[in-house]
Amino acid sequence: MTRSYEIIDHEFDVVVVGAGGAGLRAGFGCAEKGLKTAILSKVFPTRSHTVAAQGGIAAALSNMGDDSWQYHMYDTVKGGDWLGDQDAIEYMCREAIPAVIELEHYGVPFSRNMAGKIYQRPFGGMTTEFGEGKPAQRTCAAADRTGHAILHTLYTQALKHKAQFFIEYFALDLIMSDDGVCLGVMAWDLDTGILHRFRAHETILATGGYGRTYFSCTSAHTCTGDGNAMVLRAGLPLQDMEFIQFHPTGIYGAGCLITEGVRGEGGYLTNSEGERFMERYAPSAKDLASRDVVSRSMTIEIREGRGVGPERDHIYLNLMHLEPEVIMERLPGIAESSRIFAGVDVTKEPIPVIPTAHYNMGGIPTNYQAQVIRPTKKDPNAIVPGLMAIGEAACVSVHGANRLGSNSLLDIVVFGRAAAITAAKTVTAGESHKPLSGDDGSKAIDRLDHYRYAKGGTSTSDLRLKMQKTMQEHAAVFRTGEVLEEGVTKINKCFAEKVDLGIKDRSMIFNTDLVEVLELDNLMSQAVVAMHSAANREESRGAHAREDFPDRDDKKWMKHTIVYIDDKGKTRFEYRPVSMKTLTDEVNPFPPKKRVY
Ligand code: SIN
Repeated sequence: MTRSYEIIDHEFDVVVVGAGGAGLRAGFGCAEKGLKTAILSKVFPTRSHTVAAQGGIAAALSNMGDDSWQYHMYDTVKGGDWLGDQDAIEYMCREAIPAVIELEHYGVPFSRNMAGKIYQRPFGGMTTEFGEGKPAQRTCAAADRTGHAILHTLYTQALKHKAQFFIEYFALDLIMSDDGVCLGVMAWDLDTGILHRFRAHETILATGGYGRTYFSCTSAHTCTGDGNAMVLRAGLPLQDMEFIQFHPTGIYGAGCLITEGVRGEGGYLTNSEGERFMERYAPSAKDLASRDVVSRSMTIEIREGRGVGPERDHIYLNLMHLEPEVIMERLPGIAESSRIFAGVDVTKEPIPVIPTAHYNMGGIPTNYQAQVIRPTKKDPNAIVPGLMAIGEAACVSVHGANRLGSNSLLDIVVFGRAAAITAAKTVTAGESHKPLSGDDGSKAIDRLDHYRYAKGGTSTSDLRLKMQKTMQEHAAVFRTGEVLEEGVTKINKCFAEKVDLGIKDRSMIFNTDLVEVLELDNLMSQAVVAMHSAANREESRGAHAREDFPDRDDKKWMKHTIVYIDDKGKTRFEYRPVSMKTLTDEVNPFPPKKRVY
């Protein structure tokens, strides 16, 4: 029996859940358009994970050489191994140019080139002339702290436009009507312990990825995919969850990110023989091939005994040949993190690195207007009224099977802005809220109460570690049917063990014991759907590299995986077609071809 809880009610035009770059851009965009907007965040906004993005944001500004958004679009389609939706990719690459200029005008302190324009560096998979020309210098950078600079600027914009913040509010669940409309969200104020019911005509999920399903990842501890899990509990699906990106250069042992910008500035990888091995795997792009290609090449070097260190289990990233002034001006952040986390002076020694879980291409399916999709038999693009998703939580899908570096900061600002544009069209400011039909938030309270009083013998940290190790071992850079099936059995067992979870702290005020168990519950459903989806997709595409199915199979698998899960952990698959249409006649769709770098 659920105990009774005090609830405070709120009515807004729009509620945004999450205050990273995507949530802030959407939130102040809505407020700017006259909509009464709330932004909820479980951490202080400038602590959101966007702060950790280093290398930059892609946009074909042509500040450092010839470029075009059509080239950017081609690279993104190819980088995603033809699983990305081309209408959405066109939208993102075209809008990138005004979106970055807009950021500049908001005050983002971008680095400058000699002409005083925004400095742009090369990044993996970014080329010119539809892959036939020189590498593109397309990634706009604020040294190697671009996410930090963007996040702080967007936060000041949100304050300026008077979006209303609810900070350290942990979102519990969506409030859904009987006929499938999203009516708002339930949240727990960690500071006072009081529950809040937020009614909204549009609820925008900007809750980030689920990197913490892995043992070693570049994601913050807060990256528990809370929005994705709320969507699953609402009976809605997630899309393409098998596609998980490993960043080639996480610091060995610590997992912290070393930006791809290091290789963009001329850094290179070597094996135990001192060989620049990427020349063998990607003769043209070399160290700046796309991330999935570089991560696989590094893994092969280690497997074949050419790793470095006493256990030959990692690789070196070299930048000692760069001028110290260049490092201090363009890469100060990674010089500092290498010193702190690897004990390395980057001007004298290589950085020990290893592919590390970094980004989730999959997530909540949306169209390019940020509206959440629940496919039906009649309409694969049917929307869920009242619900939007943006940023890493969403699968638009602009990244397809593998995201290109510096396209994620772009994704958050372009689709954050798109969400605000959509909300301004679908919501009339001040419109009254209909009485609740169906759930009134009670389901969220039942779940909270269940875990608050959970008395089982399994601790959150033990079960979380078991789940993370299972993901690390069984849904890794290379996969086989056998290893994945074993992973499915193990992750199902982890899911089943949730019934025995127990916590010690029964209070409501800043109860981190309770926060962690709720986050684990969120992570677990995503780990299950990711592992099941990986076992289900019998081909290799982008970041999903099956050794037992080494080729891409466009005939059978050029489609999005749609996955549902029930409360027993049972999954169900459906599929959606990949959009091969463009939005305008300024570019033609790019038909699939072999992907070489
Ligand atoms: C990096 O700077 O390498 C990370 C940024 C990204 O993932 O786009």
